[in-house]
Amino acid sequence: MLLGVNIDHIAVLREARKINDPNPLDALGICKLAGADQITIHLREDRRHIHDDDAKRICEQSTLPVNLECSINEEIIDIVCKMKPSRATLVPENRDEVTTEGGLDLNSNFQRIENAVKKLHENEIEVSLFIDPNKEMIELASKLNVEWVELHTGTFANVYAMLHGNLKNSHHSIKDLELKKDELKKLLQKSKKEIKKAASLAQKLKIKVAAGHGLNYQNVNEISSLKTIEELNIGQSIIARSVFTGLQIAIKDMKDLL
Ligand code: PXP
Repeated sequence: MLLGVNIDHIAVLREARKINDPNPLDALGICKLAGADQITIHLREDRRHIHDDDAKRICEQSTLPVNLECSINEEIIDIVCKMKPSRATLVPENRDEVTTEGGLDLNSNFQRIENAVKKLHENEIEVSLFIDPNKEMIELASKLNVEWVELHTGTFANVYAMLHGNLKNSHHSIKDLELKKDELKKLLQKSKKEIKKAASLAQKLKIKVAAGHGLNYQNVNEISSLKTIEELNIGQSIIARSVFTGLQIAIKDMKDLL
C-alpha cells in the first residue's frame, strides 16, 4: 500500500503565526527518509495554508512524486499546469469548510471537469478525481479518462469515530450524534461496503484507486486491508501524532540551550 503524506497541516501551523516556521518544504527529506511514497498538498483558492510559492518549490524540489490537490477553477488549473506536479487531484472547494467535505460532483460539473482534465493531460500531469464511493461517480470518472480516482473516506471515518466515541467537532457531515451503537455498526459496514464496491468497479474499468480523508491510526486497517486500493493519502493524523512523538526531543533541545 502506497502512502501519500499530506503536509498541508504543517503550513496550517505556520499560518497560525504568519511567519516562516514550520516550513512544509523542510518536511520533504524527512517524508522520504521515513518511507512515504508521495507528497500531497492542496493549493486552495483561499490560500489558507499552502501558498503558491510553497507549491512551486515543493514541485521543484521533491524527490518523491507530488500529488497537488486543487479545485476546478480555471485560474488554479493554469497555475497547476505550470507547476507540473506528477498528479493533480481535483477536489470540491467551499470557502467556509474546515476541510474538504465530500467528493466532487462529476455530474453537475462534467464539462468544467472535462476541460480541466484535458488541460492537465496536455501538460503531462496525471489526473485523479476525489469522489464519493458510488457507481455513478466511478462510471463518470471512467468517461473522463482519468488515471486515478481517490475515494472519499470521510463518511466512513466519521461513523468510525462516532462508534468509538471520538467525534468532537460539529463540522462533520453526520450530525446525529445520538445514533445507537447497533445503527452505527450497520452504518460502518455499509460505508465500508460502498468503498469496497466502488474500488472494485474502478479497478475493473482500469482506473487506479486511492482513498483518503479522516484516516488515522485507529481506523486505517479497515481500509488498507482492501486489496483494490493502491494508495492512501493521510495528513491530519500523521502531523497530529508527530507533535507528541517529537515533543520530548523539542523540549530537551530547548532545555539544553538554557
Ligand atoms: N485526500 C484529500 C483529497 C483531501 O482533501 C485530504 C485533506 O486535505 C486528505 C486526503 C487527507 O485528509 P486528512 O488530513 O483527514 O488525513
